[in-house]
Amino acid sequence: MPLYDKILILTGAGLSAESGLGTFREENGIWSKYNFEEVATPEGYAADPKRCLDFYNMRRDLHHKATPNTAHKALARLEAEYPGEVVIVTQNIDSLHEAAGSHRIIHMHGQIDRVKCNDCGTTYDYPYGTIEVNSICPSCNVQGQQRPDVVWFGEMPYDLDEIQKEIDSCFLFISIGTSGSVYPAAGFVNMARKAGAHTVELNLEPSDGAVQFHEAHQGKATEIVPRYVDKLMHEAAIAQKKVVR
Ligand code: APR
Repeated sequence: MPLYDKILILTGAGLSAESGLGTFREENGIWSKYNFEEVATPEGYAADPKRCLDFYNMRRDLHHKATPNTAHKALARLEAEYPGEVVIVTQNIDSLHEAAGSHRIIHMHGQIDRVKCNDCGTTYDYPYGTIEVNSICPSCNVQGQQRPDVVWFGEMPYDLDEIQKEIDSCFLFISIGTSGSVYPAAGFVNMARKAGAHTVELNLEPSDGAVQFHEAHQGKATEIVPRYVDKLMHEAAIAQKKVVR
């Protein structure tokens, strides 16, 4: 019965799907309704800032109405109660992991309730209200360059060095609710295998990278994630009893 010193969890849009936030590549996904090149690239923002900000202001409204689901809560419980370290690397720009009570979270694609100045790079919390086209940066006072602090296609994700260190030192890597179609996140499972970790995919259906996982469970996150967390907690309790004896 393994007891893992460190568990690294990669999450994607499928984890927040049952909280009412859309996924990207499924039928009727976000990218079937919006052209990502127009709303999620630096070029799209430069060409038409209002179109881009309208997209993110609409999603900010959805995020304000969303609440953590039982999968988010199960991961927060794992961090609180599991005898090893639990670190979440999320591709999601929502704050549902925080709302569920998780603390060790790396937002590699940024956060929708923060704003970034496209001119001086200053980022700051901006959880409520709309991001206006003619907003003025509180740091450099430049007008009309405020954008959501999210990582767009063609931009470098955040904290890759820290993520690499977490992958290299984890013993269990769990991927939840992601299609495994966007790099660098899609390559993390292979890095984890090379680091000697046991790798698990929890997803509604096999992802593009499914063959790279040692173990996989299909189903809705709100069903399979709490079940898997219960399994880890049970195994840890047995392992600790053995140690005590
Ligand atoms: N429970 C578990 N998995 C689910 C659920 C659910 N209720 N609903 C959907 N899924 C799975 C889908 O089967 C799919 O494999 O979640 C995955 C969602 O895949 P994508 O829509 O591609 O989302 P994601 O993998 O997070 O996208 C990665 O791409 O567009 C960029 O920046 C964006 O962070 C995003 C990145």
